[in-house]
Amino acid sequence: MKAEVVTVDRNRPDRAAIERAGQILKEGGLVAFPTETVYGLGGNALDPMASMKIYAAKGRPSDNPLIVHIAELDKLDEIVTEVPEKARILAEKYWPGPLTMILPKADIVPRETTGGLDSVAVRFPSDPVAQALIRAAGGFVAAPSANTSGRPSPTMASHVEEDLGDAVDMILDGGPVGIGLESTIVDFTEEIPVVLRPGYISLEMLQETLGCEVRMDRGLLITDSSVHPKAPGMKYRHYAPKADLAIIEGPEDAVIRYISRAAASAEAEGKKTGIIAADETAPLYRQGIVRSIGSRQDEEEIARHLYGVLRDFDSDGADVIYSEAFYTPRMGQAIMNRLLKAAGHKIIHITEEEET
Ligand code: TXA
Ligand code: MG
Repeated sequence: MKAEVVTVDRNRPDRAAIERAGQILKEGGLVAFPTETVYGLGGNALDPMASMKIYAAKGRPSDNPLIVHIAELDKLDEIVTEVPEKARILAEKYWPGPLTMILPKADIVPRETTGGLDSVAVRFPSDPVAQALIRAAGGFVAAPSANTSGRPSPTMASHVEEDLGDAVDMILDGGPVGIGLESTIVDFTEEIPVVLRPGYISLEMLQETLGCEVRMDRGLLITDSSVHPKAPGMKYRHYAPKADLAIIEGPEDAVIRYISRAAASAEAEGKKTGIIAADETAPLYRQGIVRSIGSRQDEEEIARHLYGVLRDFDSDGADVIYSEAFYTPRMGQAIMNRLLKAAGHKIIHITEEEET
């Protein structure tokens, strides 16, 4: 059955539509909804059957835990057994917002929702549609990103329809999201807080807020396949476009020349070739399908457009994609983490000398 798509005004979500969506969740159904990061695929977090339905709809392994979304700070204590002082400080500073915290779970959270773990990921999103839906559903909504497992996360309702149009009961369309990359995940199950997934809120911001050491998960820093990321979801080849993607990194002129040459030879072999560039460099390419993901002066724009551009190349049927690197000041960690995963960690470092 095709999902019903309901357009909602982000600033004034229609009460009747939200009530109906909440009722669907209470009855064990699935509703996709906007958040400030990416669209989520929601089910009642306290209902093990709803979580099983989410895994089935996404084609996601059921050992990959879901994030439980709340819309009131008081609800946190109902689903976790302990909130360390540092977690309280982050909640106060960044909630509602793009931050997820891993805490020891209370008994009412079923293991189906946490992928069998004793900890639970909790997030309080800032999007008004998300908040209204969570309240209407009873307070606890489990929601992974609303994409088919292995595809880029959805930043617009049409992406959700493309992937899950037949698998959910309703899609709330609140327009394009603001951030475009999934939330920052911080693990509090050990003494020193650990970032399991970088996002809009950077490691440096967390360190500054807490005034203490915060680590980046070793599995994210090392490409050695013997060290696995701690968030089960980070080990899968996620966000993967259908094409072979390679990232080219180095001095700008050298990168442009390298990509132009590589694109020309790929096209000569009859391959449909895509190039991911910035506003500043896109006009300089003569080969392939060139897409800018935004200005290098605006890293938030780059983050917001990344997944949409990867999806556009899928629709084009691109065989190969060459991408510039985007080590931007604050969100660069998060942008490059997603891009590297999409590329299966294929990155080519070039220097001027090598290239000439
Ligand atoms: O921005 C977001 O966080 C979006 C929106 C919809 O809120 N949600 C999202 O969910 O990205 P998902 O399921 O696509 O990613 C959740 C990540 C996965 O990598 C999962 O393994 C990790 O969080 N995770 C969840 N619970 C965990 C736990 N208890 N311990 C470690 N990692 C956990
Ligand atoms: Mg996801």
